[in-house]
Amino acid sequence: MIPERVEEPQVCRLSEARRTVEPCSMVIFGASGDLTFRKLIPALYHDFKEKLLPAEFRVVGFARREKTTESWRAELRQALEQFSRTKPVDEEVWAAFARHLFYCQGDLADPIAYARLEQLLSAPGNPALRCNLVCYLAIPPSQFGLAAEHLHRAGLLQRNDPANGSPRGWQRIVVEKPFGHDLASAQALNRDLTRFAAEPQIFRIDHYLGKETVQNILMFRFSNALFERLWHRDAIDHVQLTVSEAHGVDQRGGYYEEAGALRDMVQNHLLQVLSLIAMEPPVSLDAEAIRDEKVKLLRSIRLFSPEDVARHVVRGQYRAGTLNGVPQPAYRQEPRVRPDSNVETYVALKLFIDNWRWSGVPFFLRTGKALPRSASEVRIQFRRTPHVLFAAQCGPKLDPNSLTLRLQPNEGIILHFNGKVPGTTIAVRPVRMHFSYDAEFGAYTPEAYERLLLEAIAGDATLFIRRDEVEIAWQIADSIRAGWQDKPLSDREFYAAGTWGPVAAEDLLAQTGHAWREPMVIKPST
Ligand code: BG6
Repeated sequence: MIPERVEEPQVCRLSEARRTVEPCSMVIFGASGDLTFRKLIPALYHDFKEKLLPAEFRVVGFARREKTTESWRAELRQALEQFSRTKPVDEEVWAAFARHLFYCQGDLADPIAYARLEQLLSAPGNPALRCNLVCYLAIPPSQFGLAAEHLHRAGLLQRNDPANGSPRGWQRIVVEKPFGHDLASAQALNRDLTRFAAEPQIFRIDHYLGKETVQNILMFRFSNALFERLWHRDAIDHVQLTVSEAHGVDQRGGYYEEAGALRDMVQNHLLQVLSLIAMEPPVSLDAEAIRDEKVKLLRSIRLFSPEDVARHVVRGQYRAGTLNGVPQPAYRQEPRVRPDSNVETYVALKLFIDNWRWSGVPFFLRTGKALPRSASEVRIQFRRTPHVLFAAQCGPKLDPNSLTLRLQPNEGIILHFNGKVPGTTIAVRPVRMHFSYDAEFGAYTPEAYERLLLEAIAGDATLFIRRDEVEIAWQIADSIRAGWQDKPLSDREFYAAGTWGPVAAEDLLAQTGHAWREPMVIKPST
């Protein structure tokens, strides 16, 4: 018998896993804030553990609170206990990592604090640790300009185009969302920052772009001839993008009152995922080529007129309800939320992309808090078969084919098609082909920030948002907000926590004979 030959899948590497990262320092502004403890330090710890950081590097935490390097390290160690994705924390790795961490106490508006920072960075060692800097602004956007100006004055930030190199090393600024609260404020932030740093030095974070499955959208689309051939209006009926969250706003009521679901999720994460799903193939995989295509796509999204908003956008806010038998408070009862708040915790919308590929194909997007489960997925629904063979018996009951890109959790890709039910009767029913990340690749689940911080250190801007991208995304969000005209929420716009949103969101699809597909319940395969 000829033994079955099992072929090792051939891996086509487009970039080196361990790229050259130059010695540098990362200065974290807002070093005593939540983000530093929950995300940034755990991410750097894991990057260090994986030996992905430069051999020589420093992390300097800058914040107003009185602390010493030792006390900051002790706090970070404790936080790691809670927020590290791998447990237990490896003491040996931590001890080695902690030697790279330093604290600089200071006020963002105080020039002397920046002089202290400069001194700390100039400590004996490789001179690159003084001039190659990643400045992470984990501070309110209103202070981005202030920090950039002081850094510049202290000689720590030179405006240059990193592509041309500089004898004074390179400096990059990483900024968190929210990047403004509308187009005008985002433009103002861009003006503030670009006074002291050139656009290629600015790395605007959208942590969704750091997620493996989101990065896989481009690889999946453009490395497979099979699906890309179907990726257009002739084959696709509509697209659904759901980012649902089971939790409410928890302790973030203060922030959320200023944001709401449209600004918090749609303007950034949902539009980013959408642009990857719908963009044209880039001419290469470099940052500018990819971002050019995303921008082109965002520009082709039809802006909403007030009439479109009335017809195509549904907002909602959760009332008290129950989730898995556990009572949930109403949004208006959450800490730091106004008791008569009109902020939306849910948005569903139908949008059109006015280009050749997508003309006439509706894209339905929805996101909300206090929904029945947390899951993010994109469902591409193909057109129905022509009604020939099955029309009489099944008619519209025959499920159209669809492809689900499951972004989280239990990441994977699922193809839904119809198959014959075995037996003497002739019956068809939907079946699935399921690719699951963990079954195929094992449990490799780096946090988005692990990747994003490394990219910023390496100077690759592919996974960051460019100035024009952020501005167009605000234009789209603003056109929706303008349609709401600060009108108070009507009764129809509330939904009970633990349900799939206001009834009007169902009508949004029902108008055209569609229905939302609930995100799938998928069990981990390992
Ligand atoms: C953040 C939002 O950007 O993304 C949060 O501010 C939201 O409100 C979070 O919960 C969702 O991120 P993830 O990675 O949990 O899907």
